[in-house]
Amino acid sequence: MTNCQAKHIVIGISGGIAAYKTLTLIRLFKKAGCEVKVVATRNALEFVTPLTIETLSQNKLCSDLFETGFEHSVQHIAMSEWADCLVIAPATANLIGKMAHGIADDALTTLFLAFKKPIFVAPAMNHDMYRNPGVQENIEILKRRYKDLHFIETRTGALACGTEGDGRMEEPENIFNLVCSSFHQGGDLENVNILVSAGPTYEAIDPVRFIGNHSSGQMGIAIADEMADNGANVCLVCGPTHLTCHNSNVSRINVSSAIEMRKHCVENAQNANIIIMAAAVADYRPAVVASQKIKKSDENLNIELTKNPDILLELGRNKKENQFVVGFALESENEIENAKVKLHNKNLDFIVLNSVNNPKAGFNKPTNQVTIIDKDGIVLQGKAKSKEDVAKDIVNLIIKRYNNMFK
Ligand code: CTP
Repeated sequence: MTNCQAKHIVIGISGGIAAYKTLTLIRLFKKAGCEVKVVATRNALEFVTPLTIETLSQNKLCSDLFETGFEHSVQHIAMSEWADCLVIAPATANLIGKMAHGIADDALTTLFLAFKKPIFVAPAMNHDMYRNPGVQENIEILKRRYKDLHFIETRTGALACGTEGDGRMEEPENIFNLVCSSFHQGGDLENVNILVSAGPTYEAIDPVRFIGNHSSGQMGIAIADEMADNGANVCLVCGPTHLTCHNSNVSRINVSSAIEMRKHCVENAQNANIIIMAAAVADYRPAVVASQKIKKSDENLNIELTKNPDILLELGRNKKENQFVVGFALESENEIENAKVKLHNKNLDFIVLNSVNNPKAGFNKPTNQVTIIDKDGIVLQGKAKSKEDVAKDIVNLIIKRYNNMFK
């Protein structure tokens, strides 16, 4: 079994003679048990035919942005959600230029702009074109701008135009191996069960109103995805949010209130090896939920609140011998000290600290900046990054520590 099995791969083909080798690449992914969909530029189809591509990939080819007949009408968006990665081979000088400058004038370039998961780019062109300063500058832009873009350097050798030099596309077998090995970068989590909570909780006041908070769930969802990308069995207990997981292996339970979240967390903690409580659980809920919509009558309305269960406290105190428990802390003052108190009181292995005062961190921001603390002190003082990148840092640290302790 390869790391690639059951992965969803989108292969992008642009118009170069190396496109014939991409047919081998499609076959390699299919043989490894992947689902493959192909997006080709119009020029690519001068070199390889739709019939060959569709026969090998066993899926409908996408080459026209306005073509109908697909399951989803906005094909490039649906595909970017469906895929685990995008492999562009060959990438011509023209395509690289368009990608570097945000030009989207066909199915492949539009998909590229919308794509948020790992992208592999294998260029192929004549040696002089490849060395052209404009092309080199575009390659530098791509490498600098897209952290999740893996540039597969060209080979030196005989080129189709009859000359020798660099510019030859990497061999399909090597591209295939590179893509496969990327699926297990953070560590091997096969057979490891992970419980992640994410999002806010909504505490009902009456049938139409609730007490909630601004958590979007993005951080917890990114952690769940990252864990699943590393091969773990992930159960995500998620409060109300419109955000979705990119990894279809995450098994998600949607909840609304803290009481519901507690029920599913406690149930799923039984078999969990690692527990990560990233949800912003409401500390209080209305003591009584009105059965009818509350009418406006008096000048003041008092709602009595009662304390919600502290889910993490319960999970930490009942922690099993081989369990690793991670909590989050959102603090506005004495941040490190307060986080350490929570780490101790809730019997945690790690606490991930967010500061309310940091403009690059917190609810509804695309970035986050965290400090991770264990019982001996600070383990990581992170930089401000996208929440996906912060999730990678958190997950890599957890995996390392978990493997050291229990494997
Ligand atoms: N948490 C929980 N259940 C609650 C409240 C919080 O499981 N009822 C978890 C959160 O998911 C987080 C951690 O506890 O992982 C810390 O949450 P935070 O809101 O920072 O702290 P609290 O423990 O609620 O304490 P306080 O609000 O007084 O700072």
